[in-house]
Amino acid sequence: MAVALGVVAKALFRAPTGTRDILAPESARRRRLVSVFADLAERSGFGQLESPVFEDIGVFQRLGAASEIVTKELFEFFDKGDPPRHLALRPELTASVCRAFAEHRPTVPWKIWYSGSQFRYERPQAGRYRQFEQVGVETLGTDDPHADVEVIGLGMRFYEALGLKQVRLLVNSLGDADSRPAYDAALAAYLQGRRGELSEQSRVTLERNPLRVLDSKRDQDQPVIAAAPLMVDFLSGASAEHFATVRDGLDRLGAAYEISPRLVRGLDYYTRTTFEFAADALDTAQNAVGGGGRYDALVEELGGPPTPGIGFALGVDRILLACDAEGAFAAAPTPVDVFVVDVAGGASAVVLCDRLRQAGFGVDRAFDGRSMKAQMKRADRSGATVAVIVGPDEQAEGTATVRDLRPGGGQNRVTQHDLVPAVAKLLEGTTS
Ligand code: HAM
Repeated sequence: MAVALGVVAKALFRAPTGTRDILAPESARRRRLVSVFADLAERSGFGQLESPVFEDIGVFQRLGAASEIVTKELFEFFDKGDPPRHLALRPELTASVCRAFAEHRPTVPWKIWYSGSQFRYERPQAGRYRQFEQVGVETLGTDDPHADVEVIGLGMRFYEALGLKQVRLLVNSLGDADSRPAYDAALAAYLQGRRGELSEQSRVTLERNPLRVLDSKRDQDQPVIAAAPLMVDFLSGASAEHFATVRDGLDRLGAAYEISPRLVRGLDYYTRTTFEFAADALDTAQNAVGGGGRYDALVEELGGPPTPGIGFALGVDRILLACDAEGAFAAAPTPVDVFVVDVAGGASAVVLCDRLRQAGFGVDRAFDGRSMKAQMKRADRSGATVAVIVGPDEQAEGTATVRDLRPGGGQNRVTQHDLVPAVAKLLEGTTS
């Protein structure tokens, strides 16, 4: 058999379908967004939870057999254990939070925030990825409707903090264990009666979970959905009262919201309050920039004590698309303060960069023994305010030339020993 030797074509790898590399300055913008969220959450008494990126697949299967996230979109795998464990990358964090609650039994109310990547095997398109980032909060251990208001209000204030103006809040109640059976029966009977008019996919969904048919975006299903019975007409007294208190709290916060009686979320665990944030600046198919609700039975389903919960997750990727569309929360390059130019061999730059960085300045430099002209060009491009220049004369004297790169800025020579205070004086009032 002939073996081809010599030239082997090298594969050009690309990021896997549905994933992306996030380069600077966009990566810095995302970090800033998470830090705005973290500040808001911590000021509201939420502590950060970091949980594993993968879990036993059973944790996510509790999210509901009728949800596509569980039936079609899990990234699942077996590890090298003997016997191998069946695991899955997390498609969302609420199930992991409930698993962690059942495992650690913290005192309640347990208020946590999180941020991180989620993984869903979806058909990628603008605003829909297979790896995407969420920030979110969860409050476990209380079913006080004011906890719902606190959570929803936090989401609202976060969008405001980013400068987004076109985000609408949609709220609904899916009722409790006392109201759901009657509604589910009425809805199932209605949908069965009009089964022939539904799309093929919705007919399949109908067999699994009639409620999820209401979430269909297919044109063919819309007339049937529009005339379907509404949950609000079936709420038990307690559920109706809970929903009224939530609405009253939102009114007190001055929150503009719409009651959206057909709002059904893509996960099966919701009870009572559900809500979504829709960005009008985005295409309707991907305009949900966040969503959440109550899940009063989930902790118990994961083996914990009966524990009500409420929370939300916001999609960082989509929020940034909405910011782009609205011209809010712009990406900003992060310039350094000082650029060190060394045309005397480079050894001085090694030490001076280190000294200036230790003094707290942002400092960059060039490599490869580039010419003075090339290094000065790099200094200009770096956005630095000050250039520190070491040529053969400075090298011999143990000095450095400090040049103010701002228009009309001068320069002077200082001993390397006095460099840090000289730079500090020039930068006074410019650094954060
Ligand atoms: P979710 O509605 O599945 O809820 O996701 C929340 C947000 O994550 C969405 O509104 C959207 O902004 C973003 N998102 C979802 N899938 C993708 C995707 N493929 N690409 C980009 N962004 C996406 C949950 O995940 C629940 N855990 C929320 C929750 C918390 N409920 C109670 N607590």
